[in-house]
Amino acid sequence: MEKKYDQLYYRNLIEKLESENDLSDEEFTQILENDDPEIDEMLANRAREVREKKYGKDVYLRGLIEFTNYCKNNCTYCGIRCANKNVDRYRLTDEQILKACDMGYELGFRTFVLQGGEDMFYTDDYMVNLIRNIKKNHPDCALTLSIGERERESYQKFFDAGADRYLLRHETADKEHYEYIHPKELSFDHRMQCLKDLKEIGFQVGCGMMIGSPGQETKHLVKDLRFIATFKPEMVGIGPFIPHHDTPFKDYEPGSVRMTLKLLSIIRLILPDVLLPATTALGTLDPTGREKGILAGANVVMPNLSPTDVRDKYLLYDNKICTGDEAAECIRCMTLRMEKIGYRVVQSRGDHLSRT
Ligand code: SAM
Ligand code: FES
Repeated sequence: MEKKYDQLYYRNLIEKLESENDLSDEEFTQILENDDPEIDEMLANRAREVREKKYGKDVYLRGLIEFTNYCKNNCTYCGIRCANKNVDRYRLTDEQILKACDMGYELGFRTFVLQGGEDMFYTDDYMVNLIRNIKKNHPDCALTLSIGERERESYQKFFDAGADRYLLRHETADKEHYEYIHPKELSFDHRMQCLKDLKEIGFQVGCGMMIGSPGQETKHLVKDLRFIATFKPEMVGIGPFIPHHDTPFKDYEPGSVRMTLKLLSIIRLILPDVLLPATTALGTLDPTGREKGILAGANVVMPNLSPTDVRDKYLLYDNKICTGDEAAECIRCMTLRMEKIGYRVVQSRGDHLSRT
């Protein structure tokens, strides 16, 4: 009897979230802390319905090119932090990057994501030249950058050169928590300023956070949701925190797959049009994590397009999947995985609905 009443209460909350795209902090807390799997299922069903109303059964592909594992920063959670002397560092040349894009194009990718550590070897001019070349070779493709914090002028140059989207996870919307998981040289206010600048410049912008990062409590996740609801990013990248053996957080427990899935569903209901990836970290903690992510409301997957000889050097966390596979193999595998759950990967730029 008790349970029935509870479920009715939560059903109403989920309906309210769907119709108003928001809840009070207390209501978000109740949903996040509820551990009834049936409530999760209800959330996922709603999120999936909304996602299918907006994007049908399409799953967008992003070809991820991890072009440098050098990083000047020392984020406490990250395997490629500068203090980790056990990383075999590499940088891809522009020829290698352009070749990876050509291969990706042949395989059907229409978005490339250049991701890397914060590596000032790639100056603004270097990036501008690279962006122009990629867009010249593949004018029908979108280009996403994920190269961390730079100044507004640099972002403007990248946008003017033709970059379309920018991923910069906010990591946590709580300043104190941000300071707990980052070294003192990194500033919460600067990261938030970067996100605002990127949006004002006109990029399709992605923020996001790790789920279960050290020190994270429900109140932090509620702040993250509040930030997402007000900032209204075009993309949100979330995945479970996974410890890396060469970082100060090596002994922390990984984040929960279940909580990640629940948050994917909530985010879909807050931002019905959002581009929401089922991330590699989710697939690392659970062999069918990416499929579960899609079934919880995600609509993007990001197979790896980096050359195979550097794949196992871009290790942000332990046991990362797909480090040995050819790109062609990854895309075949992903296509089959999506078909198996009734979705289809599509050959499209996969822009946010507001930009189509
Ligand atoms: N340097 C760029 C930046 O800071 O945005 C892009 C690369 S950064 C390594 C990409 C993302 O990886 C981070 O935003 C973080 O959320 C995620 N990440 C880093 N370490 C992780 C870990 N141990 N577990 C899960 N995700 C992690
Ligand atoms: Fe590279 Fe944090 S360690 S951005």
